[in-house]
Amino acid sequence: MKTSYSSIFRHPRWLVPGTDIQPTETAANRAVPADRGRNSLTTTISLIWIALHISQAGCNSPELDSIVLATPITMQTVTNPLPSEPITPLRANANLPAGKVELGRQLFHDKRLSADNSISCATCHEIGKGGGDGLETAVGYNGQVGLLNTPTVFNSSLSLAQFWDGRVATLEQQVSGPIHNPIEMATNWPDVIFKLQQDKRFELAFTKEYPSGIVEASLVNAIATFEKSLITVNSPFDRYLQGDRSALSETATQGYMLFKELGCIACHQGNAVGGNMFQKFGVMEDYFSNDDANASVHKGRYNVTQRKSDLHRFKVPTLRNVELTGPYFHHGKTETLREAIEVMAVHQLGTHVDENETMLIEEFLKSLTGQIRKEWE
Ligand code: HEC
Ligand code: HEC
Repeated sequence: MKTSYSSIFRHPRWLVPGTDIQPTETAANRAVPADRGRNSLTTTISLIWIALHISQAGCNSPELDSIVLATPITMQTVTNPLPSEPITPLRANANLPAGKVELGRQLFHDKRLSADNSISCATCHEIGKGGGDGLETAVGYNGQVGLLNTPTVFNSSLSLAQFWDGRVATLEQQVSGPIHNPIEMATNWPDVIFKLQQDKRFELAFTKEYPSGIVEASLVNAIATFEKSLITVNSPFDRYLQGDRSALSETATQGYMLFKELGCIACHQGNAVGGNMFQKFGVMEDYFSNDDANASVHKGRYNVTQRKSDLHRFKVPTLRNVELTGPYFHHGKTETLREAIEVMAVHQLGTHVDENETMLIEEFLKSLTGQIRKEWE
């Protein structure tokens, strides 16, 4: 695929802080001088891709330091090019028990999971709204407004951890959070269990799948099992990756090239195009004003670990279905996808994207919208 971008490479400088190494200067490129632009691109993407994976192997939250330390890997990537793209297609979770998925679906939509029977998980994670709520920040029990934007539940089983700050590891551990949160569902398991046990039809159906009956562990298991089924397969981009070159428009294809060349791919990658690492918001240029920087809600992973290096670090969000999940960022103050792309270019990569480039990337991001199934509703 020939695009006007394939020979321009803007090196994400944060990979090698303090230097501005051009790909043409690396041993890798000297080894393979032909079609220089193309090689430098492939090489550097391999570098980013491999470096990030290596640095992730030992810990869940790679530091930028470890990315930098991994840079000598460049030398090896040329002779050993990656056989595949840094983004891989989604695959449906085929082995889930159907009966449990269905019970989980019912519970996910059940308002008895809140103190006054007014709010279900689906109130904030609407299937028809990309698995989010379309609001700046969540509105829960008694109309109380939270501080954080509601992330999508679609494909969340693929993430390394749950929540913006990754404070729990699994979907199972996540469920109790909103149940107990006084501004979300404001209740507790004994109350929820009591209410559900009054519903004899539900109890009968539930006990068929879970012989231990309506207890916390089985409720949690059912909801998490349903969530694991929420994989949005078959997006145009995945069909393109699987060999159907006509599935992606020319502009979206160019947008993908640009997404890789600029270095977005260094953080948004893998099958969920995100969700597999924590990174600072403001790697290249501070993002938060002085006041905001001190606000707890913007401290991200620091609130979990109390480590200075985790200040303003967040889980890199999945970009699957991102056209449906605005407004953007953990604060939800960025309304459009275009603005979000521009912010990312400046603060994460230290570069600017012009209007046309922003449009191309947006077209690529829109191609990540997959199938949202009627039966999830
Ligand atoms: C009042 C709105 C609201 C309700 C109700 C709610 N959530 Fe959430 N959900 C949120 C917000 C806001 C976050 C992000 C919170 C954070 O990161 O600290 C979130 C995060 C999540 C995540 C993590 C996603 C990610 O990418 O990190 C999952 C999974 C999730 N919720 C599932 C559920 C389930 C299951 C229920 C019902 C038991 C539920 N939510 C009820 C608003 C809500
Ligand atoms: C250094 C890692 C890094 C790089 C490089 C990066 N991002 Fe991000 N991206 C993040 C993090 C972290 C967030 C979450 C920030 C927050 O809300 O606190 C994010 C959020 C986003 C969001 C908002 C998603 C949502 O659901 O709110 C979009 C869109 C996005 N990035 C696109 C891009 C694009 C396009 C590029 C390249 C121009 C890019 N990113 C480069 C780390 C990165």
